[in-house]
Parts: sequence; C-alpha cells; structure tokens
Amino acid sequence: MNSDLVTLVSDQSDIKYTEWIAEILGVRIYSESLEDRPVNNTPFFLRVSGNRVQLEFARDKRKPYIPMIAPGFPAKGVDPLLRAIGIRQGIVIDMTAGWCVDASRIASSGCSTIAFENNPLVYVLTQNAIDHCQHSIIRHYLDLRHADSIQTLQSETMDADVIYMDPMFPIHKRDAASPKPITLLRELVNHSRHMQSLDRMFDVAMRSSARRVVIKRPHHQPAIQKGKVGEIKSKQIRYDIYYPGSNIEN
Ligand SMILES: C[S@@+](CC[C@H](N)C(=O)[O-])C[C@H]1O[C@@H](n2cnc3c(N)ncnc32)[C@H](O)[C@@H]1O
Repeated sequence: MNSDLVTLVSDQSDIKYTEWIAEILGVRIYSESLEDRPVNNTPFFLRVSGNRVQLEFARDKRKPYIPMIAPGFPAKGVDPLLRAIGIRQGIVIDMTAGWCVDASRIASSGCSTIAFENNPLVYVLTQNAIDHCQHSIIRHYLDLRHADSIQTLQSETMDADVIYMDPMFPIHKRDAASPKPITLLRELVNHSRHMQSLDRMFDVAMRSSARRVVIKRPHHQPAIQKGKVGEIKSKQIRYDIYYPGSNIEN
C-alpha cells in the first residue's frame, strides 16, 4: 500500500499493534502529538486509538468508518447464502473477504471459514472488526488472512468443501455518494484489476478439490461462465453454483 493513499495516525498507546499495521500498509506512523502532525495530503487517515481503528476521510465530510462485524441473518426463512453454500459443517474458503459480511454469516453457521483479502487497508480494518466482534462463534470459526487468494490456491493444496467468491459488481453512478460500506470498498480496491483477475479466480477454484464453487452475482448480470449446476436467488442477488472438475477442459 502506498503513503499517498493513507496516513497512519496513532495515539501510541498500543505501539506493537500500530507497528503491525504500519508494516502491513507500508507507511510510517504519525503520532497525535502536535510536533508530529502529518503533512500528508492523503484521502484517507487511519486513526489508531489503543487497539481500535477508524478510517477518516480528508476530502469530504463523511463520518469516520468504524469497522464492525454483525452477522445479518434474514428475519425469516433460510439465508440464501447459506443455502448456496449447502453445508453446515466443514471448510469454506472465501476468496474475496472484503468486510467479511458474507464470511461472518458462513462462519456463524458453524463452518470453518478461511477468508482471503489482498488489500492491506481492507484487511487491517476487517481484522480489527473480527478482533472486537461480540459473537464468539465468528471469532472462533472465521480465519481472515492477508493474502492473494488466487496465488495461495495456486501454490498450496488447501482442503475445502466449498469455495465462495463475491466479485466487485460494476459501479453505478448513483452509488458514488452512498455511505454504504460496499461503496467505500469500491473506493479502496482497484476495481479494474480485480475484474481482470476474475476469470483466473474462477479457474483456480474450479481446479481445486472443493466439492462446490459458489459465485455471487447481481440479478441483471449473466453467469461468469457456463456450466452452472444451480442457482439460489434473493431479492437483488443470485448465487451461482458450480461443481469443480465438471466443465474444465484439459
Ligand atoms: C465485493 S468485495 C467482497 C465483499 C465481501 N463478500 C463482504 O461480505 O464484505 C471483493 C473483495 O475481494 C478482494 N479481492 C479481490 N481479489 C482478491 C484476491 N485475488 N485475493 C484476495 N482478495 C481479493 C477485494 O480487495 C475486495 O475487498
């Protein structure tokens, strides 16, 4: 990560934690004291107070973003995501962790969930949310890793029953001013690079030993590849289901 995107400011009460963040982000640490006022003109400030973090916005008046994990189950009926995942025990790999909204729902169902996030700032924020999550089942079953999921699955044999991915949806103009966490994610993540690697991500998942691959798609978008064996629909999204090995040539 680079120092023209984010400035790290700390109250220095948990130096080890701040140093851990600085190393992941690849930036220097500024302290809250007047003598060490950051002179950077970055769009984001990551403020560390004790062992809590918040993301502040230097170029607009948005409220600071305090990362939080609260698994949101639908009030009635079965969660469509969990129906698509299809197991209540076992190992699920989430190749696109983001804020772990989905991964925490999967973990809450009792599946060991390994979630990969390759964006350093998103990783730091989400890990902080997990560390402070009130739900012990999520802290127990959710293992967030700062790594590229494509590279990891290509280089390591990972036993998983299900592989899940939630690629970034195309950006709509109307979303630009939205305070929603997903909009913030789009600001932080290189959308076009992510979209370019989508085929490779799917391919790696389909070559794995998992029994099922699940991809989240917006209703109006086609499946990213042919060969799906099922789909679960909810109001705005669709979960496409594939069986690895079933449509890979060579
Ligand atoms: C649409 S978001 C996922 C949101 C997530 N489902 C949630 O519940 O918050 C996609 C995320 O995948 C991450 N990502 C994209 N490619 C990745 C890769 N190869 N390895 C790890 N993370 C990746 C992006 O940085 C982004 O945070």
